[in-house]
Amino acid sequence: MKEKTRFGALGAVLAAAGSAVGLGNIWKFPYMTGENGGGAFLLIYLVCILLFGIPILSAEFYAGRRGYGRWRWLEPAALLSATIFCGFYFVITGWCFHYLILSITGATSALSPAALSEVFGGVTSEVVMPCLCIVLAVSITALITVAGIKSGIERASKILMPLLFIILIALIIYGLTLPGHREGLRFLFAPDFSKITPTLIINALGQCFFTLSLGMAVMANYASFMEPSQNLTRTAVHVAGLDTIVAILAGLAIFPAVFSLGIDPTQGPELVFVTLPSAFNHIAGGYWLQILFFLLMVIAAVTTTISIVQTQTDWLETHTRLSRRWATFIAAFTDLLLALFCSLSLTNSCADYLTIAGMSIYDAADWLVSKILFPAGGLLFSLYVGWICDPADVVNELSLGGHRAIGKTLLVLIRYVIPLVLILIVIFGFLG
Ligand code: PFF
Repeated sequence: MKEKTRFGALGAVLAAAGSAVGLGNIWKFPYMTGENGGGAFLLIYLVCILLFGIPILSAEFYAGRRGYGRWRWLEPAALLSATIFCGFYFVITGWCFHYLILSITGATSALSPAALSEVFGGVTSEVVMPCLCIVLAVSITALITVAGIKSGIERASKILMPLLFIILIALIIYGLTLPGHREGLRFLFAPDFSKITPTLIINALGQCFFTLSLGMAVMANYASFMEPSQNLTRTAVHVAGLDTIVAILAGLAIFPAVFSLGIDPTQGPELVFVTLPSAFNHIAGGYWLQILFFLLMVIAAVTTTISIVQTQTDWLETHTRLSRRWATFIAAFTDLLLALFCSLSLTNSCADYLTIAGMSIYDAADWLVSKILFPAGGLLFSLYVGWICDPADVVNELSLGGHRAIGKTLLVLIRYVIPLVLILIVIFGFLG
């Protein structure tokens, strides 16, 4: 049998962190924090990462290393979720490419916030440009994925992830020189405990799943390419740590500018597409900062989309006789079609008939993924590792060096606590 190509130790962390760090950190985290009261959301989100994120990520890594045994259906089921998610995700990735092009051509400079809001409306509801941008995003993703684990994904992650950090730090330094930046820092770091509600907690948990790429077999796939000597829990902690640092850095890059310009932080998904360009338009050197920011979004999005296409490709390669090239092509083409449908469902010309249950296909995919598929995927991985796999082996693999207490604590969380909470979340998702 051919020897399996594997990630190096650092490559494994960077590739998994590349999957985790994405639009979830730079687009979704800031607007969720903005909508859910700032510091209170950050606090609960951090608790969710510790109590749910790291244990489920470790469980997924374990499933990837050991395989799915009698639960062979779990991987294709999770991949189906990943494929629906990918259709939705490529739409937003397309917006980022679109905004990168707009900022390079200067089309968003010197516009008022109202005009920028119109630009966003255009970007999301036009037919041609969004579709072309999706084709561009899918093609770049496929080209990196087809080159394979070492020369494609690991190499791209080793270049793009440090670049992402450098761009973020540059943006933060700039934001901190703005007058009034302190209010932004206070908003992000000083929790107002009265803002903590059940909805905030469910939103923070949803964000934790989204940001750590949980429940979709993607992290499990990456773990199957890690060396047997790579410690799974340590890797999970490093990946969750890097992901959390990037989310906080994104908050630090965005909120000082938002507050310093008196912009409302509770705008929702528009926050980084409308308010940030307005902020940049007020700042000296804003033209370059805007390009840097959207480049950052594009890099973060692409290191994420390659992880999904890689998982689909690997499944096709293993379960059919397709070559890597054909497998990547079929995976990417399927994602492309789904993304085009999602994107077209937002346009005026198709909005009436591209609907499911009275929602646009885009909104339906968003609802299904965030309310049902993420928690259901996390639940299934926890049940598989907690109840089906050999508990002694799980504790062994999830212990940190000689510290078996860590493996044991993780097993208790994965076996009892997490499934109970997630069953409730899935039921609430269906009801509400
Ligand atoms: N973690 C990614 C982000 O924060 O943007 C999103 C994601 C990727 C979720 C891959 C799920 C997944 F399987």
